[in-house]
Amino acid sequence: MAATILIVDDERNIQLTLARALTLEGYTAETASGGQEALEKIAALPVDLVVMDVKMPDLDGLTVLERARATRPDLPVVIMSGHGSLETVRQAFKLGAFDYLEKPITEREKLLVAVRNGLAMRHLAEENAALKREAGRFEMVGAGPAMQRLLELVRRAAASEGRVLVTGENGTGKELIARALHDGSRRKGAPFVKLNCAAVPAELIESELFGHEKGAFTGAVAARRGKFELADGGTLFLDEVGDMPPAMQAKVLRALQEGELERVGGQQTLKVDVRVVAATNKDLETEVAAGRFREDLYYRLAVVLVHAPPLRERKEDIPELADRFLAEACERNGRRPMSFAREAYLVLQGHGWPGNVRELRNLVERVAILCDGPELGRDEVAAVLPGARKPRDDRFREGASFHELVEEAEREIILAALDRNGENVSETARALGLERSHLYKKMKGLGIKR
Ligand SMILES: Nc1ncnc2c1ncn2[C@@H]1O[C@H](COP(=O)(O)OP(=O)(O)OP(=O)(O)O)[C@@H](O)[C@H]1O
Ligand SMILES: [Mg+2]
Repeated sequence: MAATILIVDDERNIQLTLARALTLEGYTAETASGGQEALEKIAALPVDLVVMDVKMPDLDGLTVLERARATRPDLPVVIMSGHGSLETVRQAFKLGAFDYLEKPITEREKLLVAVRNGLAMRHLAEENAALKREAGRFEMVGAGPAMQRLLELVRRAAASEGRVLVTGENGTGKELIARALHDGSRRKGAPFVKLNCAAVPAELIESELFGHEKGAFTGAVAARRGKFELADGGTLFLDEVGDMPPAMQAKVLRALQEGELERVGGQQTLKVDVRVVAATNKDLETEVAAGRFREDLYYRLAVVLVHAPPLRERKEDIPELADRFLAEACERNGRRPMSFAREAYLVLQGHGWPGNVRELRNLVERVAILCDGPELGRDEVAAVLPGARKPRDDRFREGASFHELVEEAEREIILAALDRNGENVSETARALGLERSHLYKKMKGLGIKR
């Protein structure tokens, strides 16, 4: 798609000359005759770069530059000025201008070079951000003891070739764990293939798992490789394995036992080297006892068991997770960076999180979109948290364990004491009659940041 360049100048003939030069190069040119109009167009149009005069009757170019950079820090702005004042140039660069052109612009090439460079820089920055997102995508957050134990287990299991069964409630990070198992193994460079066992139509089970040859059945217009074959050398992730229909259980079991398969309608036997990682939110032992899941398959899949604890059992990780999700959400939605106030963490830690990490992530995204920051307090968070109750309202509530309620109370007491003592840990410890080291340990355990 052609890049859109916004030309801002109060002189109509300059607008037209520059627009013509850029259009000839294949860019889409938009124009604005003043600062206010420029800001409106930046907000409303998919502008990729701005070329802007400094002296304009309403808002001058430097003010527009500053405001535009505040909402669109990725937007390259090329400043033009006829007065050649060094001070203006210095100011423009300080405010984040990408380049500076002296007026009148007699050489078209100078303009084009500045535009090309600006767009290239923006493209690089975008690529960089995407790479960073990609790299961070499978990174598991959590410095608390439960998460650290889990990560240690994942590290060990990853290095082995053993099949792993990951269990846990919805949204606890089972898929993330499966990816971490793959990324931490020698199979890292090979494919990670996911199959949702609950979503395969009965008549396609075999073809989905093992593939088919052309013409094997009605609708098989071309040969197709199955998930086992696609995952050769890598990891096959059987998601929602507890919902696997019985017919599929039998087929998977055979493939695991024999390490070889045939495509539907095929003559050839294919050998595949696949490590299977399975995940479920069901209690598979119960499913086995009830006769809904094959016992022999269960033992084949569950060589190593990894359990992802629910978020309510590791509330100490909530601030770190919330910070990470907030930073990501701001970037993804093009918002200025925001941060949580301490009381906001308190509200988050007071919630039960039936949807676990996914629910936290979605909530933080909602806050990032609906609130303006830069700091998000108790009220902003409580407003989007359904059923959020201020912890002081009543100490006991249905569904929370004694341990959770005591932790909440401890958290509140320590935060209040810290607040009263100017955030000084030694003073706070003295005020509470605690050893300083003991208070530190408590704070760490409760996820209270200094
Ligand atoms: N420890 C963690 N650190 C960072 N992000 C996490 C963590 N755990 C989970 N997430 C994020 O929470 C969301 C849900 O995780 P995931 O899809 O792995 O959960 P799941 O257990 O497979 O859920 P479901 O049972 O609903 O399929 C994802 O966006 C994931 O990136
Ligand atoms: Mg999942």
